[in-house]
Amino acid sequence: MEATSTNETLVSLRSVTRSVILPDQQQLHILRGIDLEVQSGDHTAIVGRSGCGKSTLLNLLGLLDVPTSGDLEFLGQPADRLSSNARARLRGSTVGFVFQQFNLLPGRSALDNVITPLFYAHGREFWRRRELAMDMLDRVGLAERAHTMPNMLSGGEQQRVAIARALVRRPRLILADEPTGALDVETGQAVMALLDTVATETAAALVTITHDTNVAALARACYRLDSGVLSPLAVAETAGVSA
Ligand SMILES: Nc1ncnc2c1ncn2[C@@H]1O[C@H](COP(=O)(O)OP(=O)(O)OP(=O)(O)O)[C@@H](O)[C@H]1O
Ligand SMILES: [Mg+2]
Repeated sequence: MEATSTNETLVSLRSVTRSVILPDQQQLHILRGIDLEVQSGDHTAIVGRSGCGKSTLLNLLGLLDVPTSGDLEFLGQPADRLSSNARARLRGSTVGFVFQQFNLLPGRSALDNVITPLFYAHGREFWRRRELAMDMLDRVGLAERAHTMPNMLSGGEQQRVAIARALVRRPRLILADEPTGALDVETGQAVMALLDTVATETAAALVTITHDTNVAALARACYRLDSGVLSPLAVAETAGVSA
């Protein structure tokens, strides 16, 4: 696999807001006027305090949610013109999610977990799902644990299975929400290095949400989200970030 140097815009947000109506009828403005472009090959970190809107933003980037106002284009298509089915299909074929708590299916082997997204694929991807899943498990160094249940794996191993699952359809956009949050520092670094390497190999874009300054420092672009407002952060500044 070789990285290509095409700079395609995967997602673009212009003046995007997201708000919700609370039970007392008050409006909560979670995201305010977000401008952000994610291009293939980008490695972007977003830092910010708990509750500032990071997961809400990541869900918008991954078409799990739609803006309240503003423009969000995914591969050039306005998200508000896509049906929820079309969004789900686009998400399945283009986006890989990695979460803090791994979210593996319990009672299913590592291999079965990695195969799951391929049930939504077509043609060669579908028919060769077992082989593709095994290759990806091998890529994250867990081929020997393919038939192990998640509860028998360490946290770092579970996250590597989750990464294999997120990447098995070769997504062009990898979205990681606190991927090292449940891991010790060293394991977290190994997991981030793996995500970084695989994203580079496949020329995917990687957007990582993190509280961890070491993780933020790995990214090539860094933003801070503060009360729903996104602003760029010079990478040199990330060393002093206290998110
Ligand atoms: N559907 C919802 N209804 C009501 N409030 C919501 C909803 N979704 C998010 N919020 C609120 O919006 C704010 C931002 O939530 P979000 O999950 O994006 O924060 P976060 O930055 O990811 O936090 P953390 O670092 O703790 O994961 C929080 O105050 C949360 O309670
Ligand atoms: Mg969150």
